[in-house]
Amino acid sequence: MIDLRSDTKTRPTPEMRAAIASAEVGDEQRREDPTVNELERRAAKLLGQAEAVFVPTATMANEIALSCLGERGDEVVAEENSHIFVAELGGPAVHAGLMTRPLRCPAGRFTPEQLRETVRRTDHSHVPATKIVSVENTHNASGGRVWQPDELEAVVSTARELELRLHLDGARVLNAAVALDVPAAEIGRRFDTVTLCFSKGLGCPLGALVAGSPELMANARRLKHLFGGAMRQAGIVAAAGVYALEHNIERLADDHTRARRLGEGLHEAGVPVDLEQVETNFVQVDVAPLGLSAEEALERLAEKGVGLSRTVHPTRLRAVTHLDVDDDDIERAVELIPRALGALARV
Ligand SMILES: Cc1ncc(COP(=O)(O)O)c(C=O)c1O
Repeated sequence: MIDLRSDTKTRPTPEMRAAIASAEVGDEQRREDPTVNELERRAAKLLGQAEAVFVPTATMANEIALSCLGERGDEVVAEENSHIFVAELGGPAVHAGLMTRPLRCPAGRFTPEQLRETVRRTDHSHVPATKIVSVENTHNASGGRVWQPDELEAVVSTARELELRLHLDGARVLNAAVALDVPAAEIGRRFDTVTLCFSKGLGCPLGALVAGSPELMANARRLKHLFGGAMRQAGIVAAAGVYALEHNIERLADDHTRARRLGEGLHEAGVPVDLEQVETNFVQVDVAPLGLSAEEALERLAEKGVGLSRTVHPTRLRAVTHLDVDDDDIERAVELIPRALGALARV
C-alpha cells in the first residue's frame, strides 16, 4: 500500500534504529539521561527558546503549554479547527480549565483585527479574561498551510500589545521553516511556548517537546510529572530525535516537492485539488464534485492500494507525504488515485 494517510506513519530507518540502539541513557525523571538532555538543549536552540522539556506526545506538549500560560477560567483564542480545539478531547478545558474562543478564518490564519474584536478584558467581577493566543504552524486542518512571516508578526505584535501570552503549536513548525527557507528560531522565538513533534515529518517513533523560558519550563517539568509523563531511560527514544535533528530536517523539502508533484498530477487528471493550498506536505482532495462520499472514496482508494485519510471537512480527504514515500510511490499514486475516484482528465 502507498500509505499517504499521515506523516505519522513512518517507521524508523536502519540508521535511526542504530542511533536508538547505541543511546546513552539514565534516569530521565532525575534529569540524568544524557541523550534527553542533549535533545532538549539542541531543540530549544533550534526553536529560539531558552529551554525545552521532552514529552511523549505533541498533545501532551500542547496541554502542558496551555496549563503553564493560563489559569482556570481564562480564555484561549485559536482558529476554530486548530488541533487543540478539535483533536485533544477538550484538553484545554479538562487540564487547564480554559474557555475556548474559536476564530473562523481561511487557511488557519487569523488577522490582528479578528484578535482585537475577540479579546475580552476582565472586569474582575463577571467577565472572563482572554489570556492566550495559540497559533498552529503549519496548520493541519487547512492542509499544512504556512503562516507568512508578515502575517505572523502582525498577529504576534497585536497579541503582545493586548498583553496576551502566545503559544505555537509547532508540531510541524520545521515544515513551515523549510517551506519559508527561514531558521525555525525565526518563528519559534516570537512565542512564550512552542510545541515540536518528532513523530511526524521528522520520522521518529514517538516523542515531542515543549520549549520556553526557564521559568515557564520549570512549571512545564512539574506539570509533566503531574500528567504522568516523566519517564526513566527515555534516551532510547530521544536518540531518534537527536538523529532526526541532524538528518531529517532539510529533507522535508523533498516531502514538499513530492506533495506538489502529487497535487499537480492529480489536478491534471481531473481530481479536485486546490493547488494554492499545497504549501508543504499535504494535498487535500475534495471528493464531493466526483459524486462520492468520503467513505466511498476511501474504500475505492484502498482497493487500488492507496491510503488517504479524512479531514475535519466532511468531503475532503488528505494525502500526506513523508519519509517512507518516494518519487515512484508518487508517480504510482498519480496513476491510481484518479482511476480509483473515477476522475476525468481535464484537457
Ligand atoms: C498540529 C498538531 N498538533 C499536535 C498534534 C498532536 O500530536 P500527537 O498525536 O503526537 O499527540 C498533531 C497531530 O496530528 C498536530 O497535527
